[in-house]
Amino acid sequence: MIIKPLHTLDHVRKSFNRTTSRSDRSEIGQFLTPVATARFMSSMFESGPPEMMILDPGAGAGVLFATYVETLISQENRPLSIKVVAYETDSTIMPYLEDTLKRCQSLCISNGIEFHGTIKREDFVTAAIAETRESLFVVPGERFTHVILNPPYKKINSQTAMSRMLYSSHIEVVNLYAAFVWLSMLLLKPGGQMVAITPRSFCNGPYFKKFRVSFLRMMSLKLIHIFESRTKAFGDDNVLQENIIYHAFRGLQKSKSTIISTSDGLDFDKARTISVPYERVVHPSDRDMFIHLDIDSTDASPIERMKCLSASLNKLGLSVSTGRVVDFRAREHLQMFPQQDTVPLIYPCHFAKGFINWPVESGKKHNAIALSAETSDLLVEAGFYVLTKRFSSKEQQRRVMAAIYDPTRFDARLVGFENHLNYFHKQGKGLPADLTKGLALYLNSTVADQYFRLFSGHTQVNATDLRKMPYPSHGQLVRLGAYVEETMPNQETIDAIIEKECLNCEQ
Ligand SMILES: C[S@@+](CC[C@H](N)C(=O)[O-])C[C@H]1O[C@@H](n2cnc3c(N)ncnc32)[C@H](O)[C@@H]1O
Repeated sequence: MIIKPLHTLDHVRKSFNRTTSRSDRSEIGQFLTPVATARFMSSMFESGPPEMMILDPGAGAGVLFATYVETLISQENRPLSIKVVAYETDSTIMPYLEDTLKRCQSLCISNGIEFHGTIKREDFVTAAIAETRESLFVVPGERFTHVILNPPYKKINSQTAMSRMLYSSHIEVVNLYAAFVWLSMLLLKPGGQMVAITPRSFCNGPYFKKFRVSFLRMMSLKLIHIFESRTKAFGDDNVLQENIIYHAFRGLQKSKSTIISTSDGLDFDKARTISVPYERVVHPSDRDMFIHLDIDSTDASPIERMKCLSASLNKLGLSVSTGRVVDFRAREHLQMFPQQDTVPLIYPCHFAKGFINWPVESGKKHNAIALSAETSDLLVEAGFYVLTKRFSSKEQQRRVMAAIYDPTRFDARLVGFENHLNYFHKQGKGLPADLTKGLALYLNSTVADQYFRLFSGHTQVNATDLRKMPYPSHGQLVRLGAYVEETMPNQETIDAIIEKECLNCEQ
């Protein structure tokens, strides 16, 4: 028997595209995947079980499952058996699909792998809803270890039977591609994998929120590939659309990081890849669950650059807490200006060039808090502390902003830090002067701020977030502190000092 190699699939695509009209194909969202893209998609899957169950909904001529079968066969750890289920409704493309399935079967048999292929000539949406419907009387349908898909793209009109059917299954989507992805994930076994190529429109915006929430709850995104060109993802097919490819696992556990790769078009061998924390892609506090793709290599580089700073607050024996004075609760104890029996009350407005400038005459904030039995729990012993602002605005260049409370500048035994600040301390008391200065310098560096942004999607700088950051070692902090005199050096100098410290530790 002669087995035609599957790489002729690009000819199939071309001949099908030549013999059918583009408007007809566009009508049913029929843009066939180029073989190069299908190969790249197949390479994204991680190794699977010995018995593979592959679903290809909206299979077209079958390029996706066929390329994946080919990839599996070329691997060292081949599966024992492969089962493919392909859904397709278009009768024009059916002969091509049948031929591809036959060739897959021959390829598997000649390589000693059991193969079962089924073409379901029916609407995937209706069939999948029936398969996934939970009922006492219906046995749940079959589940898959792998789904590979390039679904049809088509707006779903809210007045149609399709829309009503989806709605009654709690699937609220505005485009058919999202319905395909949603139903495909329901058909995955726990731990099953999906690789899909779709428009990137679902990553943000209100229309896809329900889809995003459901997808990100059930799946863990491992890999996202972004096409920089809007026209090249489908090769010569003139599809003007921003597309992405993604690989995700079904399971509640999220991966620690997501790999983001980018290529101009089908030049996948030249793709640039970065690994970013999952929280940077889907911010944990974001109720809209946007998928952030606006990541460039500078976003990932702080991790690399921070490798030389491997201490933690715990290791340093330091802590960070939120200022204890909540001004509106302590109103009766506050004074505009210092008087007898008051101590300094420090707000963010007292930050000036990396130190505390107190008192200030803004007329808006109090400068002092009465010293009494009622306020003693709100105050801390005077000492060197690093203070950071808890709130920043979107427009502000930095999130992390630090200043030094230097007790030698004020005549006070105690001090109050207002609740809009966090303060770094050692068991509730001040730190050595040189360590304080080094810590403030580090927190004011660009690399520390970039690192912070990787993990935090919001403008607030909480003590919990500051605890998670890496810090320079005790020795490094003391060395950094030596550069701080009466004021904090400017940004450029701070960054150069940190860079020099990192260079030293690499050598
Ligand atoms: C974007 S094309 C992709 C084809 C193929 N997976 C590929 O990657 O080349 C989507 C395919 O889904 C098919 N299709 C559209 N609506 C469908 C439905 N409701 N059920 C099953 N297939 C459908 C179209 O005929 C088309 O062949």
